[in-house]
Amino acid sequence: MQAGWLQLRVALFLVLALSAGVAYAHQGAGGKSEAAAAQPAPSPRLVAQGQALFQKYCATCHAPRDGKRDEAPSLAGLYQRKLTPAMKHPVNDANIGGHIKQGGPVMPPFPWLGKEEIAALLAYLKTL
Ligand code: HEC
Repeated sequence: MQAGWLQLRVALFLVLALSAGVAYAHQGAGGKSEAAAAQPAPSPRLVAQGQALFQKYCATCHAPRDGKRDEAPSLAGLYQRKLTPAMKHPVNDANIGGHIKQGGPVMPPFPWLGKEEIAALLAYLKTL
């Protein structure tokens, strides 16, 4: 009698442990596939927002595309280059975003631009 109860309890424990393990593994797999999802391409709305910000804050010095004004380097084709035009830093979001926020030797800083505004400006600069 006693031995029978013990066997039943052990069997019950094993079933519970197994189902908990399966549930945990299932959850883990779901989380992993979400994290591996590719970054979405910038939406047209974000690019349009960036263009509006650029016209407002940047175009006075950086005329896009026409290359006629000489106050600041042209940013046309910026993301096709390896190095930034003035500072010769590698072209990436961290360096360009940082330059916008901190400014350069001549360019004024824009420290009050928020994360989303910087993201919009970067999305627009990539289309030049
Ligand atoms: C008052 C003029 C002026 C304004 C306004 C201005 N810039 Fe500049 N920008 C410059 C000058 C001059 C340089 C080159 C020297 C320097 O960085 O000081 C430059 C350089 C840059 C560079 C190249 C940085 C590098 O590493 O070579 C980027 C990118 C840039 N500006 C983006 C922007 C963006 C985006 C805005 C608007 C938010 C903006 N600038 C507003 C004058 C300006």
